[in-house]
Amino acid sequence: MEYDEEEEKILKQVLSAFVLYRKYGHTLIQQKRKLMSQLPFEHKGLLLQDSENNFLKHLSRLDDCVKRNSVVADAIVKAGIPVFYPNFDVNNVLHVSSEMMQKVSGTLKQLARDWSEESANERQATYVPILQELDSLFPLGSIDRSQIHILVPGSGLGRLAFDIAAQGFSCQGNEFSYFMLLTSHYMLNCVSTINEFVIHPYIHSFSNHVTRDNQAAEVAIPDVVPSECLNHGAFFSMAAGDFIEVYGDKSSENRFQVVVTCFFIDTAKNILSYLDVIKNCLVDGGYWINVGPLLYHFENDCDSQHENPTIELTLDQLLFIMDSMGFEVLKHDSTATKYMGDKRSMLEWIYHPHFWVSRIQKANLQQF
Ligand SMILES: C[S@@+](CC[C@H](N)C(=O)[O-])C[C@H]1O[C@@H](n2cnc3c(N)ncnc32)[C@H](O)[C@@H]1O
Repeated sequence: MEYDEEEEKILKQVLSAFVLYRKYGHTLIQQKRKLMSQLPFEHKGLLLQDSENNFLKHLSRLDDCVKRNSVVADAIVKAGIPVFYPNFDVNNVLHVSSEMMQKVSGTLKQLARDWSEESANERQATYVPILQELDSLFPLGSIDRSQIHILVPGSGLGRLAFDIAAQGFSCQGNEFSYFMLLTSHYMLNCVSTINEFVIHPYIHSFSNHVTRDNQAAEVAIPDVVPSECLNHGAFFSMAAGDFIEVYGDKSSENRFQVVVTCFFIDTAKNILSYLDVIKNCLVDGGYWINVGPLLYHFENDCDSQHENPTIELTLDQLLFIMDSMGFEVLKHDSTATKYMGDKRSMLEWIYHPHFWVSRIQKANLQQF
């Protein structure tokens, strides 16, 4: 792969973050030990007298959990280097910000969402309605599904795109985060058995746990081995890069019969530019299926407001504009779901994402 200087730096930082994960995780736990040692004598005594819940023992257990998580992080790096950046030297990593390190822990939770049996309920609420819709638009046996080209922008760790391809469609995932691209590369191409790894996605927060066991909860991944399921002759690929840059020009015009977005459209600075690109890459009469909330990612990003102002449309505004752009909504519903939720936690965010199936009519539209 070819990278410009800035991209190469980001990729190097992301690989470095995975390499440094183990050290970072142990450092965070060591900081807790230090804080504990600074507690008043009586408080330390109270914490240590509970033999079941001895806090120092718990911290040692968290060290073991970090070690297990780092097995996956190291495997992601090892598999990613030859494909993404053969010149990367694991012994010569970059200094990485704590924000980047937190993205590694976020990736662990995303692994649970996409690739564990435990999070099947999240996928049931979001991915399954999309798969059912594709099934009814293109019933098995009535059409050669490999001729139906489906794009999944913002595909995260690739599960939805994989599930679509496993139904026999030609599917392309698109993603711009190297955390996601490196990890999805590993999950899609390199895992070889169900429950090959145990990860501990919730160890990095000490809040809202009912028990210490909950903080150290184990999640087994993967629940499926992708390489064993993609033998239907369908074409499956991942395209790296910004959705607008990759699919916004003439070369992507009319490339897909369906665009599927899941928890994606609110990542735009200007959601209307996403709609333009979705329209550009759909064939006339093609479908846009969406599920997700409108939690605009850039709303509070003051830096980006100066050079590139953001807009935050309400759902009804969006639906009105979709209509003017030629998207006819055929089906519209709402659901309730968590996103990277921990079922044991005392805090769970519930989203009420909207689901729609729309069809684009490109011809005979009034031009403004
Ligand atoms: C909220 S996550 C949803 C991931 C996945 N669809 C799911 O449902 O779990 C949004 C994803 O979109 C990706 N993303 C955001 N902006 C993007 C862009 N402009 N081009 C490509 N991917 C983007 C992010 O890196 C992230 O993985």
